[in-house]
Amino acid sequence: MSFTADIKPLFREEDRSAMDFAFDLWSYDDVKTNAALILERVADGTMPCDETWGDDKLQRLRTWIADGCPP
Ligand code: HEM
Repeated sequence: MSFTADIKPLFREEDRSAMDFAFDLWSYDDVKTNAALILERVADGTMPCDETWGDDKLQRLRTWIADGCPP
């Protein structure tokens, strides 16, 4: 599992531009640094604000974090 192949594609272009005031969802360093906060918001369904992530996307992000955020 890697950021480029598995995690970056989870974030849409509109997610990236909506969130650029806080961090860049297509940047490995930014997503790694904010991983716990990002997971919390997608898991509680408050982000993205226009849809809720399914279990497959959530599980992919959880596994990547548990694996130590491989680039
Ligand atoms: C998967 C995609 C997204 C993730 C992981 C995400 C994550 C987050 C996180 C972690 C915060 C808290 C930031 C902080 O306190 O520094 C936040 C805030 C915010 N996000 Fe997103 N976001 C996503 C998509 C979006 C989209 C699509 C929009 C707009 C439609 C949006 C609009 C906002 C706004 C306005 C805030 C500040 C107000 C609030 O906390 O509710 N985000 N987001």
